[in-house]
Amino acid sequence: MTAYVSNESPGRQNVTRKPFGIRQLRAARAKGEQLTMLTCYDASFAAVSCEAGVDMLLVGDSLGMVVQGHTSTLPVSLEDIRYHTACVARAAPSSMIIADMPFASYQVSPEQAFQNAAVLMQAGAQMVKLEGGAWLAPTVAFLTQRGIPVCAHLGLTPQSVHTLGGYMVQGRGAAGDALISDAKQLEQAGAEIVLVELIPSPLAARLTASLTAPTIGIGAGPDVTGQVLVVYDILNVTPGRKARFVKNYLALTGDIQAAISLFVSEVKSGAYPGPEHGFES
Ligand code: KIV
Repeated sequence: MTAYVSNESPGRQNVTRKPFGIRQLRAARAKGEQLTMLTCYDASFAAVSCEAGVDMLLVGDSLGMVVQGHTSTLPVSLEDIRYHTACVARAAPSSMIIADMPFASYQVSPEQAFQNAAVLMQAGAQMVKLEGGAWLAPTVAFLTQRGIPVCAHLGLTPQSVHTLGGYMVQGRGAAGDALISDAKQLEQAGAEIVLVELIPSPLAARLTASLTAPTIGIGAGPDVTGQVLVVYDILNVTPGRKARFVKNYLALTGDIQAAISLFVSEVKSGAYPGPEHGFES
């Protein structure tokens, strides 16, 4: 079996890409460059994704569904994310690593969030992601003031599936204005990225125009400053009905490294997502 090759081995010494960090993130936004993010849960995919030039690797709590086989992200623990963050961090020297804060690890207080976010930063994350609106602004300020960059996650927030009533498009009608107001307050509090999931493309365009922070979309159309997808989705590993925004890059290339590279180049060029991948207001 061909094993994962560590950074120290000769096979990895051709990684010459400059590490993508917070300064590169801010510079890319200022220059209007499109950013790429993929979920990642282990060292082998981290090495391949990093080599393919993915800017940011998200150790998402989607691992609860795609790795652990749960029906939601709610059972994922801090220890699960810590473990997978450490696996990814060992193998991705030039991609920024963002760790998801799992359900019940940050909602109680800014202090609770800091203590748990610190565990993920010590495991190798360079940023943490939190799901929620303006109510999280004090927590975002508390973390950023103490050296922990934050990605805010709005729109469909899967940890709230039981209050939302399912995995469906968010932000239609008046809820769109509320989402923009939430995003502005989170940016004001220090959020470095606003990630939006399953919102109408016109709302994502309005949101991007109202913020200085980069917006990263999943099912949010083309008018954001970057795209994120679940890596198993672009490799067609996810069983069942495919979401509209998913594109099967493995079918287009026949090779995992080439599939991830094509995702990167299509996002950078604007070829992905097309209008067919987005949602109307
Ligand atoms: O956990 C995850 O993979 C995510 C992405 C879907 C954005 O939050």
